[in-house]
Amino acid sequence: VKSIAVLTSGGDSQGMNAAVRSVVRSALFHNLDVYAVQRGFQGLITDDIRQMDLRSVGDIIQRGGTILQTARCKEFLTEEGQRIAAENLRKRGVDSLVVIGGDGSYQGANKLSKLGIRTMGLPGTIDNDIAFTDFTIGFDTAVSIVVDAINKLRDTMTSHERSSVVEVMGRHCGDIALYAGLASGAETILVPEVPFDLKEVAERMRENFHNGKRHSIILTAEGVGKGEDIARTIGELNDIEVRVTVLGHIQRGGTPTHNDRILASKLGDFAVRRLLAGDSGKACGVIKGELVATDIDLVVNTKKEFNMELYNLALRLSQ
Ligand code: F6P
Repeated sequence: VKSIAVLTSGGDSQGMNAAVRSVVRSALFHNLDVYAVQRGFQGLITDDIRQMDLRSVGDIIQRGGTILQTARCKEFLTEEGQRIAAENLRKRGVDSLVVIGGDGSYQGANKLSKLGIRTMGLPGTIDNDIAFTDFTIGFDTAVSIVVDAINKLRDTMTSHERSSVVEVMGRHCGDIALYAGLASGAETILVPEVPFDLKEVAERMRENFHNGKRHSIILTAEGVGKGEDIARTIGELNDIEVRVTVLGHIQRGGTPTHNDRILASKLGDFAVRRLLAGDSGKACGVIKGELVATDIDLVVNTKKEFNMELYNLALRLSQ
């Protein structure tokens, strides 16, 4: 390995900047040349690539978003696009690339590794939907944002004795809803991984009401459908008015938590070390505190296991 490039791709997430900083400074520590690609795979094709030094990543560890920006790039899906991308790296002597992003970004990295560029993936997404890592960079911050929002909602819901549906992100994964639901004491957590019946949800709310509970938070992952529809159905079943809050992209912004910054710092450094050790086509992650590198092919073809134990705990505690 002589020279490494780094890019961020797909939906941004808090902690991506900390990961970029870690990759750049770790690579410089090992006396490698480092390049940054602007706007993900699109920048590889348009040759928007610049050399980085220690100062290029100063004052970014605390910032949300990504200084390298990100884009969804159709041209990169074509073989011609991938060939141009690999060529733009090679002409600068860059033989290795760290891709920070989610599932789709990993697939892009895989394509380039098949064209002879050594690649490493870092899990940058709020969704926590990537297999072979317990946590993704940005997830912890997104969960904190949701918990904070529910704290606020709770105040007003309690005052008015109201019920509220809160829709959170996560694409096809229920982890944001699960972790935020457990941490905020939501009465109901609806996730795509666990089948549910809204009639039972409504029935449970009535039982809780008879037991003295005068408000209810129903936390729904976007993967189960629109919060608005869920609120309407529950409202009709219980003959009450149910309010809806869709947290949306608020969940993807703001300063990363220390957990995300530390995870990003460890993974960025680990990716550089794996490349130096001769690895390629791997996705880095953390499992039970251990840093691991797993074949990208395996990672993108494996569905992340849902934590049923945590889900059942949340259910038991929210009566
Ligand atoms: O993957 C991150 C994510 O925020 C998902 O939770 C959500 O479904 C999607 O991206 C939203 O995408 P966009 O920012 O393109 O609207």
